[in-house]
Amino acid sequence: MTTRSPLRIEPTTPPDESPPMRPSDPLPALPPPKPDPATVPDPVISARSLCVWYGSSMALKNVDIDIPRHKITALIGPSGCGKSTLLRCFNRMNDLIPGARMEGTIKFEGIELADPSIDAVALRRRVGMVFQKPNPFPKSIYQNVAWGARINGYKGDMDELVEKSLRRAALWEEVRGKLHKSGLDLSGGQQQRLCIARTLAVEPEIILMDEPCSALDPIATAKVEDLMDELKEDYTIVIVTHNMQQARRTSDMTACLMLDEAAVQGGHRTGVIAEFSPTEKLFTNPSDPRTEAYITGRIG
Ligand SMILES: Nc1ncnc2c1ncn2[C@@H]1O[C@H](COP(=O)(O)OP(=O)(O)OP(=O)(O)O)[C@@H](O)[C@H]1O
Ligand SMILES: [Mg+2]
Repeated sequence: MTTRSPLRIEPTTPPDESPPMRPSDPLPALPPPKPDPATVPDPVISARSLCVWYGSSMALKNVDIDIPRHKITALIGPSGCGKSTLLRCFNRMNDLIPGARMEGTIKFEGIELADPSIDAVALRRRVGMVFQKPNPFPKSIYQNVAWGARINGYKGDMDELVEKSLRRAALWEEVRGKLHKSGLDLSGGQQQRLCIARTLAVEPEIILMDEPCSALDPIATAKVEDLMDELKEDYTIVIVTHNMQQARRTSDMTACLMLDEAAVQGGHRTGVIAEFSPTEKLFTNPSDPRTEAYITGRIG
């Protein structure tokens, strides 16, 4: 007599009613294996079953996503679907919002981010953030760039670090003669590149960008986009953008977030990932009808 584990449900096999196969019959085609759409090789960040609440309201539900290394990942979707919320999960910036909490897992280089032993400040050095509105400190250009490194007790040559970071942010040539002028005296596009230089000076591994070009004109936007393309050789970038052309021009992978229809029917505004695909595929041959509706302007 065999004993069965009470925890396992044994599938019951229906009687096979198909006629027996003959040797000359063609083999039936196997269904193609279903890839896990969230999976990319060698991800830097992996989120699984991620849910985020603000108080009692669920802002994100069951998010599965892998962020590929040294690539640009774009997050697109209508306003309020949780793009910034997802971005902030990646460096635990949501910890700073009273009432925000998450469930599920987010691993950064295989380490569970929610682990209480993780030092969130140290994490934010490795996962830097550039915001929508350029936010230089009311200090000199030099001090803006040196600030993070100084706080971290940087022991190297600060002049060298400032120059290197400004060069990497494609701003050096424009500011080399006025490093001790206020960062606030720069144009909006220059201020945004100054903020990128400030982020780069602490040598992060990932740069999160929340609509970094929404306050910039097309020329300044093109400069930031060119810069992103150069930076991805050494960094992993995740960008939130409302500009579909920008997502298409700059990114390798795109996640399209949407409000969950069932939640909306129940009077809630909860975001889900409708689709996560290579950017070119998402924009030319989307797998999900909601993505198609969004990128063609029928939703949002
Ligand atoms: N600090 C907060 N406190 C409470 N609710 C918040 C907070 N931040 C965001 N939310 C709510 O979470 C949901 C997702 O907001 P989020 O800012 O992540 O959306 P988004 O996709 O970035 O929108 P947008 O495109 O307008 O920037 C919204 O319903 C929003 O009202
Ligand atoms: Mg946002």
